[in-house]
Amino acid sequence: MPVLGIETSCDETAAAVVGEDRRVRSNLVLSQLVDHAPYGGVVPEIAARRHVDQIDSLVLKALSEAGLGFGDLDAVAATAGPGLIGGVMVGLMTAKAIAVVHRKPLIAVNHLEAHALTVRLTDDVPFPYLLLLVSGGHCQLLVVSGVGRYRRLGTTVDDALGEAFDKTAKLLGLGYPGGPAVEKAAAEGDPRRFSLPRPMLGRPGCDFSFSGLKTAVRTTVEALGEPTWQDVADLCAAFQAAAGDVVADRVVRAAADARQQHPDLRHLVVAGGVAANAFLRQRLEAVAETGGLTLVAPPPRLCTDNAAMVAWAGIERLRAGLLDDIAVAPRARWPLDADAAAGAKA
Ligand code: KG4
Ligand code: ZN
Repeated sequence: MPVLGIETSCDETAAAVVGEDRRVRSNLVLSQLVDHAPYGGVVPEIAARRHVDQIDSLVLKALSEAGLGFGDLDAVAATAGPGLIGGVMVGLMTAKAIAVVHRKPLIAVNHLEAHALTVRLTDDVPFPYLLLLVSGGHCQLLVVSGVGRYRRLGTTVDDALGEAFDKTAKLLGLGYPGGPAVEKAAAEGDPRRFSLPRPMLGRPGCDFSFSGLKTAVRTTVEALGEPTWQDVADLCAAFQAAAGDVVADRVVRAAADARQQHPDLRHLVVAGGVAANAFLRQRLEAVAETGGLTLVAPPPRLCTDNAAMVAWAGIERLRAGLLDDIAVAPRARWPLDADAAAGAKA
């Protein structure tokens, strides 16, 4: 049962074909990093134009690598939000065109759901599980208890964790995207030299906040004047340690909360681009072990934005009979948990 997945919600143009047997038959990702790097962040208009330029040929390439034609597909799935609306429109319209011309079912996938279900593709993790979703745009803790069944326990009240990594990198002149650069520099730094705040630590609930940490990095950099490489490394190590402490604290609380409703909770899952961070994974490994949970993290290429996760979410929705009408609209905002507090970041 092969499904074509399309992802265009941010700065990656991606197309993939995945089978119901969990075999990833093709998984192509075109990064737009070089297009956005001069601006120090993603420029929505540039992103949308690059998606338009690339998506048709990428879809054909994904099919050809999978050894399939449009006629062999059982459905076409595309990210329909949340994300940069111009880009989302490109991917969803492409999927609609394929669905109409080749008479295939259309599945409009929530990008967060695609991240949330990836571990079922990679590791066949059963429901329920606790999910920490940490990327450039998202920072949430969710209980995933079934396809379409998500309860949000916490989210960020300001920056996403990846965003905080990116801003820290920018302040330190480490370039974009900042996460991998901060992690690399931190490995050579002393986390104890600078004392940085740990926003939300010990507070009730499971929400995150990173803007105070980012401000503290900025004032420290300003006080240093012209930071040396060792200053940069030490500050990165201090930032990463503070972020790790906050995330660990929030996850412990979320696990306790989730267990009240799901005493059978066995897995802690981490997904999103920041899940590629080895230091953070180590912290989460320890937290999981203490709480009697098994940590599962998809491999980095399936943690960052990709279309295999969209195709897989399509398969899960197809199995559940959750198809979409051709008139389905793209959405810039689309919280996974419909009951989640209005006004919070998606
Ligand atoms: O999931 P993703 O590719 O795109 C979004 O949906 O945002 O995540 C990208 C984010 C960026 O903020 C990037 O700096 C961060 O993930 N990231 C990392 C690492 N690798 C990527 N953050 C910390 N450590 C890393 N090794
Ligand atoms: Zn993402």
